[in-house]
Amino acid sequence: MEVTLLYIWTSLIHLFQGAFQTLSATSKHLKVLSFSDCKFTGKIPSSIGNLSHLNILDFGYNNLAGEIPTALFNLTKLSSLSLASNHFTGTLPHNINSLSNLNIFNAASNSFFGTVPSTFFNIPCLESLDLGDNQFSGPLEIGNISSMSKLQSLVLSKNNLTGPIPRSISKLVNLVYLDLSYLNTRGPLDVGIFWHLKSLQQLTLSHINTTIARIDLNAVLSLPLKSLSILDLSGSHVSVENMSSVSTLSSQLIYLFLSGCGITVFPEFISSLQYISMIDLSNNSIKGQVPAWLWRLPELHYAELSYNAINGFKEFPKDVSRTMMTDLFHNASAISSRGVANNHLTGKLPDVYLNDCNLRSLNVGHNQLAGKLPRSLSGCSSLEVLNMEHNRINDTFPFWLGSLPELHLLVLRTCYRFRTWHRDWVDHWSLDAFLQTALVPLQRS
Ligand SMILES: *[C@@H]1O[C@H](CO)[C@@H](O)[C@H](O)[C@H]1NC(C)=O
Ligand SMILES: *[C@@H]1O[C@H](CO)[C@@H](O)[C@H](O)[C@H]1NC(C)=O
Ligand SMILES: *[C@@H]1O[C@H](CO)[C@@H](O)[C@H](O)[C@H]1NC(C)=O
Ligand SMILES: *[C@@H]1O[C@H](CO)[C@@H](O)[C@H](O)[C@H]1NC(C)=O
Ligand SMILES: *[C@@H]1O[C@H](CO)[C@@H](O)[C@H](O)[C@H]1NC(C)=O
Ligand SMILES: *[C@@H]1O[C@H](CO)[C@@H](O)[C@H](O)[C@H]1NC(C)=O
Ligand SMILES: *[C@@H]1O[C@H](CO)[C@@H](O)[C@H](O)[C@H]1NC(C)=O
Ligand SMILES: *[C@@H]1O[C@H](CO)[C@@H](O)[C@H](O)[C@H]1NC(C)=O
Ligand SMILES: *[C@@H]1O[C@H](CO)[C@@H](O)[C@H](O)[C@H]1NC(C)=O
Repeated sequence: MEVTLLYIWTSLIHLFQGAFQTLSATSKHLKVLSFSDCKFTGKIPSSIGNLSHLNILDFGYNNLAGEIPTALFNLTKLSSLSLASNHFTGTLPHNINSLSNLNIFNAASNSFFGTVPSTFFNIPCLESLDLGDNQFSGPLEIGNISSMSKLQSLVLSKNNLTGPIPRSISKLVNLVYLDLSYLNTRGPLDVGIFWHLKSLQQLTLSHINTTIARIDLNAVLSLPLKSLSILDLSGSHVSVENMSSVSTLSSQLIYLFLSGCGITVFPEFISSLQYISMIDLSNNSIKGQVPAWLWRLPELHYAELSYNAINGFKEFPKDVSRTMMTDLFHNASAISSRGVANNHLTGKLPDVYLNDCNLRSLNVGHNQLAGKLPRSLSGCSSLEVLNMEHNRINDTFPFWLGSLPELHLLVLRTCYRFRTWHRDWVDHWSLDAFLQTALVPLQRS
């Protein structure tokens, strides 16, 4: 019987080389070979070149090492090749486009080095290229693309690539997902080169080193990218000055990541993002109060505002009747070491959480909140996480929280009165302490 399809799922096989020799001797017509996640060690033997009918070859998630034998690049019928998450090293050959039927090439999370062969972009039906998390270096070259590129997903993040993004990226008009994180452009990033990428849904430009230049967020959001729903500029220097009127902005954004972007004022334009579901503005130097409009964004489920210099709310969230995760001021004290003022959130938490509130997480650690814990929290039956650590709450021990069925993480360290009254107990609870264990003594009392 001839083997045409072989999946090996077991994690027990370690005899990679041996298994392989047997295979290539008996199964020349093999079309699918998947060794994914088998804990294989060793190198790919050059006899792989004998399996000339292979369409799908998946070596992903093993412990394979060494260079890729050149014989592998003779397998011209391959449409999908995954080498992801191994310890492969060496360079990728310039004639990689001899694999002219490739749809998917995934070499992510290895130790490949050298330049990214520009010939990748000449493979006519390539739809997905992932070279992220390797040691590719030098400038990115896309070359002269003649026919229409079918590339939909391009991931080059976490490499050592330097220099500007080539203008020819604008020819990759079918890109849906583009991740160029950790690129060192060594200068300003002209976002105009993305103008023609009208299918983009996710653009990730995090930790781009533009030296002293800032990425102009207004220019990014003014691009005619009607499908863009995820924008990640975390860790890159971003300018939110001169944001133009709301109508021209990419108002269909759903996720916006602007963590560690050097932003100093609460970005007002967010108020026009009617579909926004998650915002990360953590680790900036945002001063002043949380604007009242934030709570009125109809789809907002998660706002991450920790590590800033925020000192209060314009208005407390009154109706938290939808699922909302807020990590507002968590660990604000950590920023003092960077010379930025602490978040000094003062005042009381309002007792306004409705009886049918769907709040899942309330995280207001490291502030100066005083008063009592809002008793209405006992109506938040979905509450999973409550962090009040390092505040000035003056209350008796909240045994009543024991009635919340989903609560599994409760952090009350150095809440003013808890500490003096229940020192032994409260101090050994930490962020890792699950309430399952803590609740037992709670309910017994
Ligand atoms: C497989 O290819 C190698 C050359 O790479 C050759 O020496 C060997 O004889 C081939 N084996 C079979 C079983 O065809
Ligand atoms: C790969 O193809 C080249 C010619 O393109 C040939 O010289 C070589 O023998 C082939 N290697 C294998 C292992 O088939
Ligand atoms: C790119 O290709 C076009 C035609 O497809 C040709 O006219 C042009 O000279 C090429 N440019 C380079 C730099 O090779
Ligand atoms: C990155 O590339 C530069 C030269 O462009 C080199 O000096 C440096 O060692 C490389 N870093 C790594 C981690 O490969
Ligand atoms: C950014 O790039 C410049 C110039 O290449 C380099 O001197 C600097 O160390 C880089 N910064 C980071 C954080 O890598
Ligand atoms: C914002 O606009 C002002 C005045 O028009 C200009 O001086 C400044 O350079 C602009 N800032 C940015 C980041 O474009
Ligand atoms: C915060 O952002 C700075 C750059 O602005 C970065 O160096 C630092 O690692 C970030 N810290 C965290 C906790 O993300
Ligand atoms: C909060 O910051 C302290 C140091 O200030 C650090 O030890 C702790 O791990 C941080 N916790 C979290 C959850 O980041
Ligand atoms: C704590 O609250 C009690 C009354 O509930 C009050 O007598 C006491 O002064 C408060 N302590 C502090 C430090 O605010």
